[in-house]
Amino acid sequence: MFNHIATVPMNLLMLLGCLLATTTALSTDTGSEGNGVSVGGSTLNNVISEDPEFTDVIENITVPAGRNVKLACSVKNLGSYKVAWMHFEQSAILTVHNHVITRNPRISVTHDKHDKHRTWFLHINNVQEEDKGRYMCQINTVTAKTQYGFVKVVVPPNIDDALTSSDVIVREGDNVTLRCKAKGSPEPTIKWKRDDGHKIVINKTLEVNDLETDSLELERISRLHMGAYLCIASNGVPPSVSKRIKVSVDFSPMVWIPHQLVGIPISFNVTLECFIEANPTSLNYWTRENDQMITESPKYNAGLTPPHIPPDNSKRKYVNRADHQPQFSAIDHVDHLSQAFRVRVRHRHQRRWGTGGGPS
Ligand SMILES: *[C@@H]1O[C@H](CO)[C@@H](O)[C@H](O)[C@H]1NC(C)=O
Ligand SMILES: *[C@@H]1O[C@H](CO)[C@@H](O)[C@H](O)[C@H]1NC(C)=O
Ligand SMILES: *[C@@H]1O[C@H](CO)[C@@H](O)[C@H](O)[C@H]1NC(C)=O
Ligand SMILES: *[C@@H]1O[C@H](CO)[C@@H](O)[C@H](O)[C@H]1NC(C)=O
Repeated sequence: MFNHIATVPMNLLMLLGCLLATTTALSTDTGSEGNGVSVGGSTLNNVISEDPEFTDVIENITVPAGRNVKLACSVKNLGSYKVAWMHFEQSAILTVHNHVITRNPRISVTHDKHDKHRTWFLHINNVQEEDKGRYMCQINTVTAKTQYGFVKVVVPPNIDDALTSSDVIVREGDNVTLRCKAKGSPEPTIKWKRDDGHKIVINKTLEVNDLETDSLELERISRLHMGAYLCIASNGVPPSVSKRIKVSVDFSPMVWIPHQLVGIPISFNVTLECFIEANPTSLNYWTRENDQMITESPKYNAGLTPPHIPPDNSKRKYVNRADHQPQFSAIDHVDHLSQAFRVRVRHRHQRRWGTGGGPS
């Protein structure tokens, strides 16, 4: 640590030697206050004036990336000595006196001429994360005098899409891990929530409103896990950001029929109802004993109630057991005393047909 500090002043002193030779013209302007005897030679100045001193500490600064910052270093009795700014971690001399040494175009230096205790300002425009660290203000006395100020650069979180899950389709019973990574400074934390406000089902015994983790593990996924999940990254620097990841759970159709046997007087209308839960949505139709598909006709009206559309008609029922739930009903102008109906359902990812029975 100390070694590191010591090397910088050495560099600085050598550099200053060169600079002093080339900037004597400037020094008459800048070295003419205080005791008024200075003629630019530090030896002469040293003999008759007090040593320069810092008059205030350097304020630490926390700044969001992209802003401009100004560090102030206040000195008195500077005489013909010079003030330099350095970046400690980068071992870089940024400015010496009025001169910018670094090639970094975002760095500049000014000083307050009217202030008896001169203040030297180091300006950093459009601050970047790499600008963070310890800044040293140094006076080139025989034993260099140094003081420090810290610049902390904060960066709002930004989700790294390459390392973050996208929408997933899984089969019921599989394990799923949703990942989310975000950059920022300080390191962002990741929180998961369900977009619909429901709790996240971790396992049989644990349900949580939100969970703080980079990777959300959903074990033995069920249709209850289906939905959109939000990965929210925050680090105290606004704004927080989020990504929406849809989890779609495929499962075989499940069929249930509320009324297995329906009695109806002749010439009345009747609605047979069958509810199907499947993802993706299944292909469904009704048949009679002959296994022939019942098609639309003046006699039959096989309707599918789309999910999420409330019933506008008492003959159609709506049950929300899961997303993507189709239902349908068939209306029969009964002219037979007894008829058996079947509903046939096919999972879109399956070859096999499943059936649900009506009265038989
Ligand atoms: C700046 O921060 C450093 C390290 O965190 C601390 O030692 C120092 O006292 C701070 N300076 C001021 C002026 O707050
Ligand atoms: C899911 O994870 C559990 C526990 O880690 C494991 O026992 C099970 O075999 C996994 N199931 C699958 C389908 O990978
Ligand atoms: C559910 O998960 C929590 C947290 O991971 C764990 O402590 C608990 O034992 C789990 N319960 C079951 C039944 O797996
Ligand atoms: C039966 O349904 C048909 C067609 O929807 C309708 O015209 C008729 O009035 C209905 N009959 C009864 C008794 O509700």
